[in-house]
Amino acid sequence: MITEIKWQDDFLVGIKEIDILHKELLERINLCIQGANGRLGKIKIDQLMLSLFKYTQWHFRCEEALMGVYEYPEIKTHIEEHDDILILLGDEIKKVQTNMTYFQETPKFFLGWFGAHTLSSDMEMADYLRGTSHFVYAAN
Ligand SMILES: [Fe+2]
Repeated sequence: MITEIKWQDDFLVGIKEIDILHKELLERINLCIQGANGRLGKIKIDQLMLSLFKYTQWHFRCEEALMGVYEYPEIKTHIEEHDDILILLGDEIKKVQTNMTYFQETPKFFLGWFGAHTLSSDMEMADYLRGTSHFVYAAN
C-alpha cells in the first residue's frame, strides 16, 4: 500500500498562480497512487496517467512562460529539468501500459520528482521572481 501525499504548506512557493497548479498536480498524483493501491481498473489508470502527463506538460510551459517574461537567469537549466521529467514520465507511462504490475513502482517516481523539483528548483525560481521589483503576482 502506497501512502498518498497530503498537501503541506511547506510545498508553497509563495506565488499563488504556481501553488494552485502544484496542488492540482499533487491531486492528480494521488489519484494515480489510489490506482496503484488497487482501487481502479487499467483503463482508468491509463487515462489518469495520460492526463497527468498532459497536465504536467501544460504546468511546465506556464512556469517557463513566467520565467521568460521575468528573464530568470536559470531558465535554461530549469527547462532542461522539466524536459527530463517529461521524458521520464513518458517512459513510466509506457512501462505501465505494457505491464500493469509495474504500476506499483510508479508512485515512488512521482513522489521523488514532485519533492525534488518542486521543493528545490521551483522554490529558487519563485524566490527570484518575487524578488524582482517589477513582478506582479497574487500572494498566497
Ligand atoms: Fe518547475
